[in-house]
Amino acid sequence: MNIDISGLMKAHEEDGDYTGDDGLLYCGKCHTRKQMRLPVNPFTGSSDPAIVPTACQCQQEADKEAEEREKQERFNQAMRTRWEDGISRPGGLRHTFSEDDHVKPQEVAACQRYVDYWEELKAENIGMLLYGSVGTGKTFLASCIGNGLLEKRVPVVSTNFPRLLNLLQETREKQKLLDRLSVYKLLILDDLGVERDSAYAAEQIFNIIDARGSSGLPVIVTTNLTLEELEHPTSMQYARIYDRVLEMCPIRIKLTGDSRRRGNAEKRKKIAQQILLG
Ligand SMILES: Nc1ncnc2c1ncn2[C@@H]1O[C@H](COP(=O)(O)OP(=O)(O)OP(=O)(O)O)[C@@H](O)[C@H]1O
Ligand SMILES: [Mg+2]
Repeated sequence: MNIDISGLMKAHEEDGDYTGDDGLLYCGKCHTRKQMRLPVNPFTGSSDPAIVPTACQCQQEADKEAEEREKQERFNQAMRTRWEDGISRPGGLRHTFSEDDHVKPQEVAACQRYVDYWEELKAENIGMLLYGSVGTGKTFLASCIGNGLLEKRVPVVSTNFPRLLNLLQETREKQKLLDRLSVYKLLILDDLGVERDSAYAAEQIFNIIDARGSSGLPVIVTTNLTLEELEHPTSMQYARIYDRVLEMCPIRIKLTGDSRRRGNAEKRKKIAQQILLG
């Protein structure tokens, strides 16, 4: 059998590439070799030295980037499938740090560091509490952290208590549902304190928080409640919940100021006027 290997032996030559003093082809962009010399021909086994193609530096980098992109795409697809479990809140991970308007640089930098030091923080089960009045950017920042971690291929979910309470109410396998939360290395629980105030709700919230605490995995909680309200709840049931939340969230970031939604509404009103009135 005669196999033509000439194509395999040839380096891919592009404009600007050149032959070096050693007789090998060099890349015109990164000036590293696109060919190497082997003492034996790898395809025929003959002991004649052979010149074979090799990836220059920029080709190696491009290959690595393509491999990373492919891995990320596979991870994103797996996450999208996982989020169909009903736990995930649609739009809960909409925002990224690139959208930040630089109004709160310190708070944003702390959230960025949470992403940067994720491995260390996760090892210590250190979660974060984002608290403050309405429209101050708590959900926005939680979402930025979530997306920052998704880019590191960390499984994240953003949900809230009303959604989890509905799921728990619908299922007979409550423990299984609580266990499923631990497939997410970071759990974002948005809006603690807005759920209906009933003994049943409090019991389920306790179960959710307790299950997360036992899993040893971090949580980010956002809430309109003040630290004072979290530290001194009026009922014993909520004392047991908030005590755990505070233990699980040693990083506490207070967001202050007026609701950003008002400013956003003004901007959008102006855009609408321009579109409609020309
Ligand atoms: N750092 C930021 N940069 C740009 N836009 C922001 C920032 N923080 C918040 N926003 C925008 O401001 C609006 C309100 O923010 P967000 O929903 O995060 O507030 P919140 O504190 O979660 O409010 P609530 O207490 O009502 O849940 C959103 O439209 C959000 O996209
Ligand atoms: Mg919010």
